[in-house]
Formats: sequence, C-alpha cells, structure tokens
Amino acid sequence: MTFQSIGRPSVEVVIVQDAKAGGELIARGIADLLRRKPGALLGVATGSTPLPVYEALTAQVRAGDVDVSRARIAQLDEYVGLPAGHPESYRSVVLREVVEPLGLSPDSFMGPDGSAEDVQAACEAYDAALAAAGGVDLQLLGIGTDGHIGFNEPCSSLASRTRIKTLTERTRVDNARFFGGDIAQVPHHVITQGIGTILEARHLVLLATGEGKAEAVAATVEGPVAAVCPASALQLHPHATVVVDEAAASKLKLADYFRHTYANKPAWQGL
Ligand code: F6R
Repeated sequence: MTFQSIGRPSVEVVIVQDAKAGGELIARGIADLLRRKPGALLGVATGSTPLPVYEALTAQVRAGDVDVSRARIAQLDEYVGLPAGHPESYRSVVLREVVEPLGLSPDSFMGPDGSAEDVQAACEAYDAALAAAGGVDLQLLGIGTDGHIGFNEPCSSLASRTRIKTLTERTRVDNARFFGGDIAQVPHHVITQGIGTILEARHLVLLATGEGKAEAVAATVEGPVAAVCPASALQLHPHATVVVDEAAASKLKLADYFRHTYANKPAWQGL
C-alpha cells in the first residue's frame, strides 16, 4: 500500500503506453464523473493532445456506456481576432471535436468571446459565467512545449484570472500546423483562463504525449512551483492528475515511483 495515491498527492502521475491508452483512461474518468454528476461542467482544451480523449468518450457514448446528454462544456481559451466561424477558432474546434460528436446542443457550451470589442470585459464576463455555472468539475489540459497551460505563457502570474495574453514565438511556431504551416496566419493574441481560474476547477487532468513534451512534463511535476513553468502550478492543486505516455515520461527521474504508486492505487479512488 502506498500513501501517495491514498492521501491524494498534489500531482499524481500516471504513465500509460501511448496516447490512445491515455485518452481511454481519461474518458473513463469523465464517464465516471458524469455517472456521479450528470450535469457536470467539463473544461476542455483544444490542440492535438486531447483528441484521443474526445474520440474515446464519443465511442463510449455510441456504445451506450455513458449518458452525456446533461453534460456542459467550457472552453479554456480562444484566439483573439479570428473572424467568427473561422475553422481554427477554438469555438469552432470545440463544436467540431467535442460538442457535435457527443451529440450535445451548442447551448450546453460556453466560451470567451474572442471577437469582443472590449476584450477585458469579455474576460471578466467569462470568469463570472464560470462561477455562475457552479465552477468547472473537471478541467482537461494539454501542455505547451514551453510549459504553458491554457495560454498562460512562461512567467504568467500563478494567481492570474482570465485575460488577454500574447503568444510566444515558440507557441506560434508550434501552432502553425493548424494554419496550413503558415505562421503569419497564427494570431498573436489569445484570451485564456488564468492560472488562478484554472486552479478553481475541482479536478485538473493534464494529458501530455510525445517526446517534445518530456522536458515540460519533468519541470511540471519534479521542478519547483515557478511561473517560468506555468503548469507547475498544478502542484498547488489538491486533485491534479498528469497522464503521460512513455515518451512524455522519458525525462521523469521518479518514473519508477510513479509507476509503482499507480499500480498499487486502490480501485475505489478512480481517476
Ligand atoms: C489549447 C491549450 C494549449 C494546448 C497546448 C498543447 O486549448 O490550452 O495549452 O493544450 O498548446 O497543444 P497540443 O496538444 O496541440 O500540443
């Protein structure tokens, strides 16, 4: 019996074989949450990493294993300045990858308004809307190669609220693949839930896959809590789970301990 999982560590690390296994594990955790709380508010991330989660959850829904009809969906971030309906606006992506495949109505979905004239007011309105909705029950996160969560780039305040941020060049290069490889098309600005906002979710689940994330993952769970690696703020949360594939785990010094702990985790504890 190990104490790390039993007492709930600030960050629990689960090492899985590959992205598909990570997606299935997290989708099972979301399904369990929805069985306990059918109207749960799910915070979703965009980008490539969470796609296996949405695919696995959709498969469970189609197989009749879970009823998601009362679930609500909240966006994590949004580009500023893309025209309404742009296929790479995060609103479009979440509708396409999450809301439609799960058979939810667009009314069950909330996100910040990236085309608002008064961006600051839109940010404050989004924080207020999340609180009015009862807060996020489970926030799914990806991680940037520079350690960002949401689009809280390095040196974001760990207490930050939803606000406008400027993307680093590295993030714009990373995201150019969604814009036909043309970095000039990647917006410079985004609205992102702040780190303080993200930390208010009841359960944080970060998925990282591929070797390109290994350094950021090691800094997140084994480094100090420091604004230079925004994801390290997960260490401050009472219930944070980091799911990594073997490649993303490759720079973890404590990998064997994390494997041992998870192998001995009591089943009743769930994700
Ligand atoms: C997207 C988001 C970002 C991504 C991160 C990783 O909503 O919040 O933090 O999760 O940039 O992106 P991928 O998964 O494409 O490597």
